Amino acid sequence: MFVHVVADSPAKLAGLRAALEREYEVTSELLGAASIRLSECYALVVKVDLRFVENIAALKGTLGSLGHVRKRIFLLDQTIHLYIAQAYALGATLVLSGPVNQKKLLSALADRVGTSAPSPADTNDEIGAASVGATAVASMFAAVTKGAPIDVKGVKDAGEKIADHIAEKGLSDWLATVRRHHEGTYQHCLLVTGVAVDFGLSLGLARRDLERLFSAAMFHDLGKATIPLAILDKPGRLDARERAIIETHPDLGYDALKDNENISSEVLDAVRHHHEYLDGSGYPDGLCAESITDVVRILTISDIFSALIEVRPYKRPMPREEAYDILCGMQGKLEKPLVASFRQVALNR
Ligand SMILES: [Fe+2]
Ligand SMILES: [Fe+2]
Repeated sequence: MFVHVVADSPAKLAGLRAALEREYEVTSELLGAASIRLSECYALVVKVDLRFVENIAALKGTLGSLGHVRKRIFLLDQTIHLYIAQAYALGATLVLSGPVNQKKLLSALADRVGTSAPSPADTNDEIGAASVGATAVASMFAAVTKGAPIDVKGVKDAGEKIADHIAEKGLSDWLATVRRHHEGTYQHCLLVTGVAVDFGLSLGLARRDLERLFSAAMFHDLGKATIPLAILDKPGRLDARERAIIETHPDLGYDALKDNENISSEVLDAVRHHHEYLDGSGYPDGLCAESITDVVRILTISDIFSALIEVRPYKRPMPREEAYDILCGMQGKLEKPLVASFRQVALNR
């Protein structure tokens, strides 16, 4: 299997070749220079400094003819939302940022949730819906980081595409595809959107309510855009200071969206209150049951479940049965009949 490598310096190319050549046949290309490409290429690995506009322009040209490659892994030196968003906008299916050693790169190239062969679930169509979703999530994170306007319509359109996809193909394929190709907060937002949509479909929600739900899911963790990735993606337990920083994200998301005329009050409420619990023990406002809307109740269940089943580089994903048992054990915090209805989404769909 061939892996095609693109980098912006001969030293980076040499480093990547050395890391990959034990496992793969490698073709390589210096950004802006002519190269030989093989059409049956299994994956593309890009290591280019995205701080420079001329690199981005050159990369767009290079990637134009490589869009069919199933895995498109971007390696970034900087762990900054803006460049991660840029990488997704350029067509990355996975972005690895910060120091990436050989082991991490090889495991990213191998299948992350199963065998090394492409699974039947892994069709271009699915990667397409997931990539559109990841690009929309990444773009809104970048907009918040830069203080630029958020493309609300673009995010809703991506949510719509995900909803159509789930309605047609079901939840399990979506979970496998997203967990295979995306990581961190982007993976989380896409999982929550898929789970919430499927939960909404199983409850027989009207299209308007479903739209509210998938919009709320797409936007719900927007406030994480300004939380350092070192905290968001920390492998171990968070300390009290880090937890306090994380817990600012519903408020930050609310602030980023509250003056946007294209965001409905229900979606805004969900962004602010998706960590509230019926018994008043949640944050940021310590709301009690009567103040927590149905959209928020559905979103909160989808959010917790998705966080539990996420694939992280440092842990195996929790089986769906186990994650559902944890929801059932959250006595008094979640609406019991809704958790019971969620059973078939969690286990069977
Ligand atoms: Fe959250
Ligand atoms: Fe979340």
